[in-house]
Amino acid sequence: MRVLGLRRYFAIAVFAASAACQTAGSASSTGSTDVGAMPAADGPAVAATSMEQAGEYLTIVGSCNDCHTQGWTESQGKVPPSERLAGLNVGFRGPWGTSYGKNLRTVVQRQSEDHWVQVLKTSDEGDGKPPMPWWNTKQMSDRDLRAIYRYIKSLGPRPNGVPRSLPPGREPTGQYIWVTPQGAQ
Ligand code: HEC
Repeated sequence: MRVLGLRRYFAIAVFAASAACQTAGSASSTGSTDVGAMPAADGPAVAATSMEQAGEYLTIVGSCNDCHTQGWTESQGKVPPSERLAGLNVGFRGPWGTSYGKNLRTVVQRQSEDHWVQVLKTSDEGDGKPPMPWWNTKQMSDRDLRAIYRYIKSLGPRPNGVPRSLPPGREPTGQYIWVTPQGAQ
């Protein structure tokens, strides 16, 4: 997987340095936004003062932003929460065709929390394409997956026009990365 090569391909995006201040922890700084009490975990899980704060932390250390947030890699994580997880316009091309890190801000609007957990536990019923790390998310505890959902939902919708995935043999019109350089095309 050549995700580390991402920044060479991206359009340049400039983010204000001040955006760096709005990182993990902001959700609980006042205490008044502590909307999601932490339910009991069904296994190893992250502890935080709210589900949303746990979710923000998990999306960062779980690398969700790397593939679902425009500009995350080239800014080294200096994207304010309001702009995160709205999808990536750079495709990942391989024998499966071309897949895109979807707009999760849209996904959580149309999916229930239970369905979200189901998708991430089952590789979208076996339909999920690389390089989404389905093999990792299926090992996450339900509570952590729910925390991620609630955090992303708390960010609200953010349309971003992420391209639709393409079947093998179709040439993407925008930027893409070969995930398997000798891809069976
Ligand atoms: C290496 C890149 C990469 C990383 C890291 C990544 N994703 Fe993905 N994700 C993708 C791609 C590409 C797709 C589209 C897969 C497809 O088309 O089947 C996807 C799809 C998804 C979907 C399915 C959306 C739908 O259609 O219902 C969810 C949910 C999701 N990702 C959540 C996450 C979460 C949560 C994390 C962090 C724990 C994460 N992703 C990390 C690349 C990534």
